[in-house]
Amino acid sequence: MTENHQEEAVAAITQADTLDGLQAVKTRYVGKSGLVTRELGALGKLPPKERKARGAQINAVRQAIDAALTERESTLKRTALDARLASEAIDVTLPGLPLPAGGLHPINRVYDDLTRIYERLGYAVIEGPEVEDEHHNFEALNVPWYHPARDLQDTFWLEDGRLLRTHTSPMQIRYMVDHEPALKIVVRGKVYRYEATDATHEAMFHQLEGLVVGDGISMADLKGTIAEMARGLYGPSAKVRFQPSYYPFTEPGADFAVWWDNPRGAVSGQPGKWLELGGCGMVHPNVFKAVDDLREAEGKPRVYEGKTGFAFGLGPERIAMLKYGIPDIRYFYANDPRVLGQFRGELG
Ligand code: DAH
Repeated sequence: MTENHQEEAVAAITQADTLDGLQAVKTRYVGKSGLVTRELGALGKLPPKERKARGAQINAVRQAIDAALTERESTLKRTALDARLASEAIDVTLPGLPLPAGGLHPINRVYDDLTRIYERLGYAVIEGPEVEDEHHNFEALNVPWYHPARDLQDTFWLEDGRLLRTHTSPMQIRYMVDHEPALKIVVRGKVYRYEATDATHEAMFHQLEGLVVGDGISMADLKGTIAEMARGLYGPSAKVRFQPSYYPFTEPGADFAVWWDNPRGAVSGQPGKWLELGGCGMVHPNVFKAVDDLREAEGKPRVYEGKTGFAFGLGPERIAMLKYGIPDIRYFYANDPRVLGQFRGELG
């Protein structure tokens, strides 16, 4: 072991450019069977008077190598850390990538407007099955077999004899069978009619159904409720119009329209128009009777005969078409991003 060994080791250490390479140099010189270690082991074979000087010499070499190793190791570690920090650095000042944002479908926006109005009036908001049976969709609603709505052509029938509900009114029946009066509900959901489509007709569309049952409920309550809804939709000066009409499940029955004030009336020359929104009426006694029959069959008390109530049904599509200027009902369900893309974010 000479100064040459020391120089050679220190040179190898200085040239090691990875921690693994440095470890190899370390093993070669000061490892268990490294050069310096072996020299120290061989001391015992020297004559005793030479041992001390030789030992001191080897130790000096070993210390020099250790010092070089320690320094090189810390340099390499610092370099490795710097490289890692540089490669993992995030520039928080870079502009972000735009995230694709969806939006609420216009029909859901109108549903939300409507449910907000009815929740404020204390109504429960419910949904129900789209696959119905003939009894709930027609029979129990006092729709006689000869009524045009029963026309096979208007209904999507399933092979098992059930059908896609043609209106949300069957939920009146289901809810009353399960709940005792008094009650106030609105039902939201899809309905289906087997008919040709055009700008104002689709085979699938939506309805909002209302039902209020209690004691001494009158036509005045119904009119007040529809007027309140109109004010909620179109502001405090909204006007409503009722016309006698016929629905088997109401007596009397009516159609109602809401005056829609065209916000662009001044420029377009059209000040507004009566928007035929839907049907309504006082719940027909035969409906209460059918509900009590169903309740009785389930072992529940008959609690509806003698009650009074009103119901209404309307289509959110008509409201949305006017509100958002959508000229064709088929746009709602064509999934065209050029149409639906206009309803991103918080449009009114
Ligand atoms: N179910 C009727 C339809 O689909 C709408 C309707 C009319 C619902 C009068 C009612 C009502 O609750 O009282 O055309």
